[in-house]
Amino acid sequence: MYHISVMPSEVSKYLINNPNGLYVDCTFGGGGHTIYLLNKFKNIKIVAFDWDEASSNKFFENENEFKNRVAFIRDNFKNIKKNLFGININKVDGILADIGVASKQLDDMGRGFSFNSNVLDMRMDKRNDLTAKEIINSYSREDLADIFYRYGEEYKSRHIANAIILRRKRGIINTASELKAIICSVKKTEGKTNPATKVFQALRIFINKELENLKILLSDAPGLLNSGGRIIIISFHSLEDRIVKQNFKQNANCGIYRTLTKKVITASQEEININHRSRSAKIRAAEKTNV
Ligand SMILES: C[S@@+](CC[C@H](N)C(=O)[O-])C[C@H]1O[C@@H](n2cnc3c(N)ncnc32)[C@H](O)[C@@H]1O
Repeated sequence: MYHISVMPSEVSKYLINNPNGLYVDCTFGGGGHTIYLLNKFKNIKIVAFDWDEASSNKFFENENEFKNRVAFIRDNFKNIKKNLFGININKVDGILADIGVASKQLDDMGRGFSFNSNVLDMRMDKRNDLTAKEIINSYSREDLADIFYRYGEEYKSRHIANAIILRRKRGIINTASELKAIICSVKKTEGKTNPATKVFQALRIFINKELENLKILLSDAPGLLNSGGRIIIISFHSLEDRIVKQNFKQNANCGIYRTLTKKVITASQEEININHRSRSAKIRAAEKTNV
């Protein structure tokens, strides 16, 4: 399925404070937010990051009207400072991060993000070594339970870890669908949510060090923003949202940020009807003060 960008008009409202400014899109993905912003504000420029090689290819391989206004860096956004300094950029007017999984990544059965994948991988950046297959087939019962609980808030973490260890005695677990079957043998469906959702989320967050990357980005952001510059984060689960909320609050307490979203921004019912993925998206935004 084609990736539909989440809340583009809210993103532009909270991100753009200088119509001639330089912005960073930390999560280029299919380029949806970047292209929306470049279209709407004809004088802005964007440096875009994404660590997934599948992300930038089509946009940057083809000639297009935006080529002179956007540069792409294939790296983890936790290295934002080093990369920007490397191209002689010390300050920017806004930083956007939309930290979910792109529809393209979910739909690619060779990536292992979806329940029916025929692999167990889940790396967003294939240059990293650790895969879900290695974790599921070699980590101890305690370590598995800890990952499922800590990063998925899975209350059946121990039962699921036990079932995995038992199943391992019969041979290697090779695919996401095998893992899903093990989880479903322990956990019944609750409402519309697949019983494997939390374990898959936990593995993805752990493998890609998603919370650590976010914390580094948030800690570097104040030093990179001009006065009046904005930071906006779109998160998709409570662990991330908590980190963003706390960071903005701490920076506001120190007078570094002014919080722009007193209450978290969520998608309208109209948007959710068109783009189901937007139902769990939360936007928080802050502005760098003059200190
Ligand atoms: C939800 S998609 C972004 C979609 C994009 N905003 C759009 O409108 O098309 C998230 C993207 O962020 C990338 N990503 C996630 N964490 C990253 C990180 N730490 N560094 C760089 N890219 C990251 C993923 O590879 C994925 O392509």
